[in-house]
Amino acid sequence: MKEKRHLIIIGFMGTGKTTVGRELANRMNLPWVDTDRYLEERWGFAISEYFRKFGEPAFREQETEILKEILQGPPSLITTGGGIVLRPENRMMMQRQGWVVHLYAHPDEIIRRVSGDGNQERPLIQGDVREKVWRLFREREGKYDFADLKLDTTSCTVNQAVEQILAFWH
Ligand code: S3P
Repeated sequence: MKEKRHLIIIGFMGTGKTTVGRELANRMNLPWVDTDRYLEERWGFAISEYFRKFGEPAFREQETEILKEILQGPPSLITTGGGIVLRPENRMMMQRQGWVVHLYAHPDEIIRRVSGDGNQERPLIQGDVREKVWRLFREREGKYDFADLKLDTTSCTVNQAVEQILAFWH
């Protein structure tokens, strides 16, 4: 039983954090908080609009602030934006205050997933999706490695990922 700390889901865009998070939230006795949704609710507009208005550095500040706030709250299931691992400060806080699960997927599979509808929500991979995903993926290599559990979602179902996380948790 790991219930005195948070359960934190990290991973690159398109690795299934939100989908897996939603299913986990139904199966666990923990409140679910998503850093991106939390920020959008607070601002009253979308992440993509925030990037357009204020840029990425301002977004990263906000992301760290909201992470701190959530980590100070009651033990929760926390899903995060793919870039939350960029700051060493964030990685350290998550490692200390939660059990961290890294959802991985091969970049080709990520490209397939994010190329469908709804990608206008992802400001960092507009335009040449393939080139941008590969570039960010390489830049972020190793930054997710502090996790307590790594799951490859390239070819597993949402349910399989959820079962493995629940087994890890209990
Ligand atoms: C980002 C990922 C997004 C969102 C923002 C930046 C990133 O979240 O936080 O667009 O830097 O990887 P998802 O991973 O949920 O798409």
